[in-house]
Amino acid sequence: MSIMRKKIVAGNWKMNLTKDQSLELVNEISKNVDNLSEETEVIVSPSFVNLSSVVDSTSRNKKVQVAAQNMHFAENGAFTGEVSAEMLESIGISTVILGHSERREYFNEGSHLLTKKVEQALEHKMRIIFCFGEKLEDRQSNNHFDIVREQLQDSLFHLNEVDWDSIVLAYEPVWAIGTGETASPEQAQEMHAFIRKLVENKYDDEVSNRVSILYGGSVKPANAEEIFSKPDVDGGLIGGASLNASDFTAIINAI
Ligand code: 13P
Repeated sequence: MSIMRKKIVAGNWKMNLTKDQSLELVNEISKNVDNLSEETEVIVSPSFVNLSSVVDSTSRNKKVQVAAQNMHFAENGAFTGEVSAEMLESIGISTVILGHSERREYFNEGSHLLTKKVEQALEHKMRIIFCFGEKLEDRQSNNHFDIVREQLQDSLFHLNEVDWDSIVLAYEPVWAIGTGETASPEQAQEMHAFIRKLVENKYDDEVSNRVSILYGGSVKPANAEEIFSKPDVDGGLIGGASLNASDFTAIINAI
């Protein structure tokens, strides 16, 4: 059976790039993806302050979508410094990254909080790129499958099947993020197949075959093709290499 899952290459710009740099980068990327096939989606994720400008500059190029890196769980209110789903919606953002390991690690975002964010995003009909993945010590102690199972169960497995149309999974082993150490294509495939099976066991094979599972952690032009060639790897969430137009384009072309 051939499965038509969406292929996605998403660039997480993290806390990088000024407004001018963001616009320059997205313009370069837009030029390079003009001939991309319909099945492949390209996403960039600038900082909050640059979202609006990047959305405006990509409005004529439907090939490049724009996502936020985070959002608050509340509708509005006294949460100084935070950004709501409604605010994102109002500037044309319909995709949000939630659960990134840097949010979990530096801003204490745990399952309870992430569940509330997931619910708020769905309430606003936003698509969620949900990140999760084990730390080095979890892999060394052979707990990586348990950790990943818990992260998914805690924040996503209360959702119904229709909600899953709005979910993209991003497996990002923490030990591979920004370290230059990538999971081997075999390690990525093994975990992605495990994740798909978890979803199948919880729901059914229609849901599990439809959900795109991205790999993130030191993806670069030199290793993208091999990782993306694995059957359960449906694309990538790219950090460092997404800040350079030619590297990011090479990664997109690898898919
Ligand atoms: P790097 O590609 O820099 O390892 O970052 C991955 C990541 O965290 C994407 O969200």
